[in-house]
Amino acid sequence: MNILLTGGAGYIASHTIIELDKAGHSVFVVDNFANSQPEALKRVSTIIGKEVSCMEADVRDRQAMDNLFSLHKFDAVIHFAGLKAVGESVAKPLEYYENNMNATFVLLDAMRRHGCKNIIFSSSATVYGNPAIIPITEECPKGHCTNPYGQTKSMLEEVLTDVQKADPEWNVVLLRYFNPIGAHSSGLIGENPNGIPNNLMPYITQTAIGIRKELGVFGNDYDTPDGTGVRDYIHVCDLAAGHVAALQAIQRGCGLAVYNLGTGHGYSVLDVVNAFQKVNGVKVPYSIRPRRPGDIATCYCNPAKAMSELGWKARFGIEEMCRDSWNFQRNNPNGYECNQD
Ligand code: NAD
Ligand code: UD1
Repeated sequence: MNILLTGGAGYIASHTIIELDKAGHSVFVVDNFANSQPEALKRVSTIIGKEVSCMEADVRDRQAMDNLFSLHKFDAVIHFAGLKAVGESVAKPLEYYENNMNATFVLLDAMRRHGCKNIIFSSSATVYGNPAIIPITEECPKGHCTNPYGQTKSMLEEVLTDVQKADPEWNVVLLRYFNPIGAHSSGLIGENPNGIPNNLMPYITQTAIGIRKELGVFGNDYDTPDGTGVRDYIHVCDLAAGHVAALQAIQRGCGLAVYNLGTGHGYSVLDVVNAFQKVNGVKVPYSIRPRRPGDIATCYCNPAKAMSELGWKARFGIEEMCRDSWNFQRNNPNGYECNQD
């Protein structure tokens, strides 16, 4: 299939290009590089041995989207583009609502006008709020999102659901990602956050390499085996493969489909720190800090639906995730910076 990836230079999309290419799909990227660098695509080109076609544009730019869909015939779109920093979304709600909502409105309108009605959307486990069922199945009711970022994901799921309901020619796949970490085994691409990382794994790798002094563990008094928060970490390459599997649902004419993409295993913050130290033979100094507002105790999924309907299942364990995250950090102590033109 001929696939458009919005936000295609980002962390998850750059890994997804490799899996799509492996499966024989053609890929085109649109990105405004708000949170990524062209260097990521150059490195993907090195890995797959061919140029990645890309247009630098903002998905909110109607004219640009119209040109793009006039020039290319896409069979499906994987819509990764969006702003994703939870803390920043609390400080800048308008920017987050404006970017994430409008980009999707403009994209959907261009798609419908050009007769491309197949879309895979990057949603998040955050839509479950404080989950009513553990492990979380797709039937678990959506919960209250405590921040504008999460709200955009939840609202866009509703928008996409209504679009599909109004016109059954649409195939819409909502992928609810759990916690992606890890990197491609080449060490060429990986997560490259701006500034101080909010998420656990980049904070761990930056502490291990000495950029940060110590990891703050946010709370050890949760109702979990060791008191620290439990999450479903998934290797980004497994997550990437989940998108290739989701294309099968599109090809089958799924209408609306929702899948959890996680491993089904919950690991605590201290489990991850211990696995990281053991696998990589490096120290991660840490101290216990107060709970982070908005955090929940436990979040992991039941990924059985993706297995039974898409034949997809995560292959990598926590050790490989820790190994590959460290490999990328060690090879790129300053992210993509050092190799930019
Ligand atoms: P990322 O920031 O690395 O990638 C997002 C990409 O979208 C970036 O390259 C950015 O430049 C681009 N972008 C943003 N707004 C744009 C616009 N208006 N026009 C064009 N490009 C635009 O993030 P990621 O971690 O790869 O996440 C990809 C998607 O998955 C996002 O929608 C994110 O919300 C969602 N998601 C991520 C996680 C996670 O933990 N990383 C979890 C759940 C869901
Ligand atoms: C966060 C977002 C969520 C988003 C997800 C994936 C919040 C409140 N939630 O989820 O909306 O979908 O990322 O991008 O930010 N931790 C520490 N120290 C740190 C960082 C994290 O102890 O420096 C702990 C957290 O308390 C949590 C676990 O590590 O228990 C994972 O945190 P994180 O990587 O930020 O992911 P989530 O909180 O699950």
